[in-house]
Amino acid sequence: MKVLLIGSGGREHALAWKLRQSARLTALYAAPGNPGIAEEATLVALDTDNHDAVIAFCQDTGIDFVVVGPEAPLVAGLADRLRAEGIAVFGPSKAAAQLEGSKGFTKDICARYNIPTGAYRRFSEAGAARAYVEQQGAPIVIKADGLAAGKGVTVAMTVAEALAAIDDCFAGAFGAAGAEVVVEAFLDGEEASFFCLTDGKTALPLASAQDHKRVGDGDTGPNTGGMGAYSPAPVMSEAMVARTMAEIIEPTIRGMAESGHPFSGVLFAGLMITAKGPELIEYNVRFGDPECQVLMMRLKSDLLPILHAAATGRLSEVSAEWREEAALTVVVASKGYPGSYDKGLPIAALPADTDSSKVFHAGTALKDGQLVATGGRVLNVTAMGADVASARNAAYDAVAAVRFDNGFTRSDIGWRALNRT
Ligand code: AMP
Ligand code: GLY
Repeated sequence: MKVLLIGSGGREHALAWKLRQSARLTALYAAPGNPGIAEEATLVALDTDNHDAVIAFCQDTGIDFVVVGPEAPLVAGLADRLRAEGIAVFGPSKAAAQLEGSKGFTKDICARYNIPTGAYRRFSEAGAARAYVEQQGAPIVIKADGLAAGKGVTVAMTVAEALAAIDDCFAGAFGAAGAEVVVEAFLDGEEASFFCLTDGKTALPLASAQDHKRVGDGDTGPNTGGMGAYSPAPVMSEAMVARTMAEIIEPTIRGMAESGHPFSGVLFAGLMITAKGPELIEYNVRFGDPECQVLMMRLKSDLLPILHAAATGRLSEVSAEWREEAALTVVVASKGYPGSYDKGLPIAALPADTDSSKVFHAGTALKDGQLVATGGRVLNVTAMGADVASARNAAYDAVAAVRFDNGFTRSDIGWRALNRT
């Protein structure tokens, strides 16, 4: 099978690395890719916003299957265009991608199918939203409805903070994404990331994972895209997985099918495990980044036939096997992230990959032959071990061999899992 992978981050490097090992692969292309992905795939300088160009490349090259990494091309309808041309694609239609593209859409599905989630209201103007917040009190959560690159959410501990967030949204801080605002009850508990492949009918839960969203040790400071992750996540016990499937994932898949927009691809549920059980914080329509990196390290099965089965309505024919070992990844970020940071600074040295450790490139480029940092999240230093503690030790040993003066990491990835044992 000739495969085109869309994307350029650490998630896509992990997917490329795993796809490359497939017995079914004959050629792997990636657009636009990065220097890490270039070790696994032939990079193609395609503008992935230009769907005509993507389709022309697929037709000219005889691509059999497209795997879409990030959400933006899905929300923009790339999967629909590819399917219309008869090209198999891993990733949902534009209509089904609304599960990530519109928080209000997801909340309405939760309400219709009785899926546990924080109580909420949708607003299209500030006055009514402010009045609702005054009445509900704090803590409370304010969310821009649309895609805001992970920045549209304010967990407000005071009413004043919540009112300011509402005003920011309606003043255009998140552009069109903030034209509508969701105000949601604050959920208290431990977060977990839950991933489930689906072809629209069948659901295949993947191994559990957890990431660390806050930039600072002890889960402090501003939210980021994720500063590290590990798998398995002890909070997702077998019973919790069963409840998540029955109470959240299965009704969603059924609901999307009933609405005429079946969801195929990977459904990523951001969960809060509260005293009542799993509650949905949000859906994403793609793999988590950096959760994907630890899942790919632990996946024993060939990834390609599994993704292809999800894309072509045959998911009931496949299964996924996982290594017993734990995997943990530490994000090396540019100083200043998630605020502004310098770009183009050199990465002087990386640890050599081993059978049980691997550096995935997230935001890197080659400039005159020198590896440089181009993103907020630059590298994902990933390792396996007998348990989370040994995976963590191996990952931090590898981090110590990274020479990137403008970089920083959290020093406590995995602490919640380690505190349990
Ligand atoms: P989201 O973009 O919806 O995943 O939100 C970003 C982060 O905000 C989540 O990972 C949580 O840490 C936090 N968050 C979102 N919604 C809630 C909520 N209802 N209660 C508590 N924390 C929340
Ligand atoms: N790490 C969380 C995300 O990918 O949204």
